[in-house]
Amino acid sequence: MKGLILSGGNGTRLRPITYTSAKQLVPVANKPVLFRVIETIRDAGIVDIGIIVGNTAAEVMAAVGDGSKFGVKITYIQQDAPSGLAHAVKIAHPFIGDEKFVMFLGDNCIQGGISGLIKQFQDSTYNAQIVLKEVPNPRSFGVAELNPNGSILRLVEKPKEPKSNLALVGIYMFDSSIWHAIDSIKPSARGELEITDAIQALVDTGKTVFPYVHRGWWIDTGKKDDMLEANRLVLDEMGEQNNGSIDAASHIIGKVIIEDGAEVINSTIRGPAIIGKGTRIINSYVGPFTSIYHHCTIQNSEIEHSIVLEDCTINDLPGRLCDSLIGRSVVVSRSSARPSAYRLVLGDHSHVDVL
Ligand code: DAU
Repeated sequence: MKGLILSGGNGTRLRPITYTSAKQLVPVANKPVLFRVIETIRDAGIVDIGIIVGNTAAEVMAAVGDGSKFGVKITYIQQDAPSGLAHAVKIAHPFIGDEKFVMFLGDNCIQGGISGLIKQFQDSTYNAQIVLKEVPNPRSFGVAELNPNGSILRLVEKPKEPKSNLALVGIYMFDSSIWHAIDSIKPSARGELEITDAIQALVDTGKTVFPYVHRGWWIDTGKKDDMLEANRLVLDEMGEQNNGSIDAASHIIGKVIIEDGAEVINSTIRGPAIIGKGTRIINSYVGPFTSIYHHCTIQNSEIEHSIVLEDCTINDLPGRLCDSLIGRSVVVSRSSARPSAYRLVLGDHSHVDVL
């Protein structure tokens, strides 16, 4: 069995972060979502993995490499434009051949326990297996309508009037019957070849598509608040560890991970939280559900329920930063320069809330 990860697309909902970087590489609890996906597939015993890349190909390839650091072999497949999930699968046909495969969306974050499901498909006679999850906002997803016996009646991509609250999770398993199904579909109203339509074609032609309803949590990390929620859920499941240094004046409360070479000086960290490699927390408070990535400096400031990417400086803030997603190499600081004012350099589609 092979693995296929979709890591192309434009990530418009995570702008401005995704103007300069791939959304799949934004870290959740200091590990990019894409790395979590690779590890999940590897943990199911699959080592031959294709990754679909788009205009962020160089960055994805630099981060993942040949896969050896994860114990897998990665093959990159270039998609010229984000023409849809089924289009991405179609161009992967030469890589997959006629083997069974599991396909993961590179921006989906799911609670563990999926490996067994992949192995179950490997040993089954199903033509496809999909994963469903009850959600409060089904309009944002592909939605499944089931028959009374639990089999699939209909799948609709982002319906205006959903017939159920069962969303399609970004994990799909197929055998070689998917190739004919993809060839039989046309682009949707949004101009994309939809995998949802290809699976409907499998159902319509009498193939066996098994719907598995996932009971754990699942987050499609497309937007800032979804990233923060995934970060909260993952941090909540992590333990505590100190590979850095904490001085005698500091207080560490609850589950906190201090990564290699990080320093905590005269500060309080209330977990769950993670402090990245080489980061310095000085005279500051880091509150619950916060991930500070590598090589940042947080000084004379307070922050909680936030994600901070690498190489940031946060200095002398008069109020606490909350509910924030802060991109790479960002500086947020108090200034005594006159006139006393907010001075901002913000990328397109940035969002700032002030007191
Ligand atoms: O997250 C689950 C949802 O994912 C499902 O419920 C929907 O049925 C499914 O269509 C998909 O919807 P999204 O609108 O959220 O898909 P998105 O455009 O965000 O793309 C998902 C991933 O696939 C993302 O990592 C980018 C990548 N991608 C996307 C497209 C359109 C590609 O690699 N190539 C593409 O052409």
